[in-house]
Amino acid sequence: ALTWFDPIRQWHTSSEKIDIFHLTYEQMTRNFHIRDDDVFLVTFPKSGTIWTQQIIISIYKLCGELEDGPNNKAQMPWLELKQNQFDHSTRASPRLFTCHLLPTTMPPGVTHKRVKVVYVRRNPKDNLVSSYNFVYADHSFEDFLDKYLEGNLESNFWFSSWFDHVRQWNSVGDQYDILYLTYEDMILDLKGAVVKICEFLGKTLSDADINKVVQKSTFETMKKDSKANYITFIPGFETTGEFMRKGRIGDWKNKLTVAQSERVDGVLKEKLGDMKLGRPQPW
Ligand code: A3P
Repeated sequence: ALTWFDPIRQWHTSSEKIDIFHLTYEQMTRNFHIRDDDVFLVTFPKSGTIWTQQIIISIYKLCGELEDGPNNKAQMPWLELKQNQFDHSTRASPRLFTCHLLPTTMPPGVTHKRVKVVYVRRNPKDNLVSSYNFVYADHSFEDFLDKYLEGNLESNFWFSSWFDHVRQWNSVGDQYDILYLTYEDMILDLKGAVVKICEFLGKTLSDADINKVVQKSTFETMKKDSKANYITFIPGFETTGEFMRKGRIGDWKNKLTVAQSERVDGVLKEKLGDMKLGRPQPW
């Protein structure tokens, strides 16, 4: 099991590796004062982060609570990215945040159901294929898979494993005002997901406006929307693939061999087999 110190150590290690990327935990939280109407989107990378950003931002815009901005990463910045180290204290409310943090590294004050947290999970097989294509495609897939399953990816892109992230976030539901979504449910019923997010955020939109959010959040629309689809994520941070790649359930079947798929199943059973995550179960 992870201790409180592990994420801190990981933060330090990663922020030493690439200066533009992570803030240290101390840097991030030192001047961070939570506001009751802050909203946090939390995901393990490659689980549908920019998709959910687009949905939440569209909802806030249609409610008249958010002006148009340069792009989604400026309107719903990643909390942990150094390039976003602008002063959050001067941002107008409501402030929307994105992050890939573990509960142990969230800023103080987020717990106790004070603010709203949206957590999106994606099937680990699709998550790992998406991750591989995004940042690891110039390495061997077998090597990537070993490291992914060990939670030991050397890139500074990950600072926990999918298994730890999902376990930890799904163990703190009683401490947070949290909506759990899955990428798969969003694919199967986008409108249903938009309605759920709206209700959770306490926003009332007409059916026509809900349809507008859906329209803005389809794969095809987002691929063409430069505010939602970041071609250059962070200057200086090279990716090996695009954000908007395929956007499907089950693409892992094109990549994983039967043996590799069974390996993932084995690790899933070992690490999360005792958890009731609701549907769709990732195994
Ligand atoms: P694939 O690589 O499988 O295509 P993140 O935003 O967390 O980095 O996740 C990126 C993944 O979400 C990519 O998966 C991307 O295609 C998918 N995605 C982004 N927007 C989407 C949308 N509107 N509909 C379906 N999938 C979407």
